[in-house]
Amino acid sequence: MTKIFSLTGKTALVTGAGGLLGKAHCKALADAGATVVAADLAIESAEHSIDFDKERHLALALDVTSPVSVAEALKQVTDRFGRVDILVNNAAVNDMVEDPKASAELSKFENYPLELWNRSLQVNLTGVFLCSQAFGSWMAANGGGSIINIASTYGITAPDQSLYTNEAGEQTFHKPPAYSVTKGGVLMFTRYLAAYWGNQKVRVNALSPGGVLNGQSDFFVAQYAKRTPLGRMAHRDDYMGAIVFLASDSSAYMTGANLVVDGGWTIW
Ligand SMILES: NC(=O)c1ccc[n+]([C@@H]2O[C@H](COP(=O)([O-])OP(=O)(O)OC[C@H]3O[C@@H](n4cnc5c(N)ncnc54)[C@H](O)[C@@H]3O)[C@@H](O)[C@H]2O)c1
Repeated sequence: MTKIFSLTGKTALVTGAGGLLGKAHCKALADAGATVVAADLAIESAEHSIDFDKERHLALALDVTSPVSVAEALKQVTDRFGRVDILVNNAAVNDMVEDPKASAELSKFENYPLELWNRSLQVNLTGVFLCSQAFGSWMAANGGGSIINIASTYGITAPDQSLYTNEAGEQTFHKPPAYSVTKGGVLMFTRYLAAYWGNQKVRVNALSPGGVLNGQSDFFVAQYAKRTPLGRMAHRDDYMGAIVFLASDSSAYMTGANLVVDGGWTIW
């Protein structure tokens, strides 16, 4: 059993590695034995996610929306390690409108800015397309690999906007349309690629996490917990086992699937 979960000898690249979940994905893959390439917009942020054993791992600056940047990342990874076996498409924009006064109005569908819509499409969908095309093509030509696309519960169920109200019942924020639509697209893209590359041993699966504790108000956390069968929000390390499972041979007969790890959020 230990062997089929082992990632020893494998090289894994994680996009958006400097973010809340990216760091945990990097740690999970490294703990299972992989060499990890942590990639994010700023190299400082990527470096921060692999402050363990820099001899073994690599931090890269990568903009997933830029074909030039993606091609350069592939070159750096294959030059240094000679291979890439695992790609975690984790980078995404989840826009929170900064100004709390503007937030409720700007995030309304009626007002939602085209620029924010386009930005989410670029990062959350085009970024997955570009990284999968570059790294997945390398895998397809070199014996196979595993691509893990990070989707979301909001790619499966529509946001219940009443979650984003305060104690007084005022709508403080709306979960914007671009997030759900792009995450739904990621799930379809996962199936498309799984079918396309099945015969070249490139497995493509999605992981759909639920909401992660990250300094939200007590009221929000309680509201979220009430809507979740397991009665709590996720901790950032709740997805580490799922990442290793999808990356390793323990999921060898699995492709095109969506592994939902959400405390039961999407079952009702
Ligand atoms: N946090 C949650 O509650 C939650 C729930 C469900 C799904 N998810 C998904 O998990 C993934 C990680 O979420 P998170 O909470 O860690 O987000 P985060 O915002 O903390 O991290 C996202 C990272 O992506 C990077 N990024 C943004 N644009 C980029 C680009 N063009 N190129 C490269 N990197 C870029 C950012 O710099 C950031 O470090 C996302 O796909 C998100 O949609 C998160």
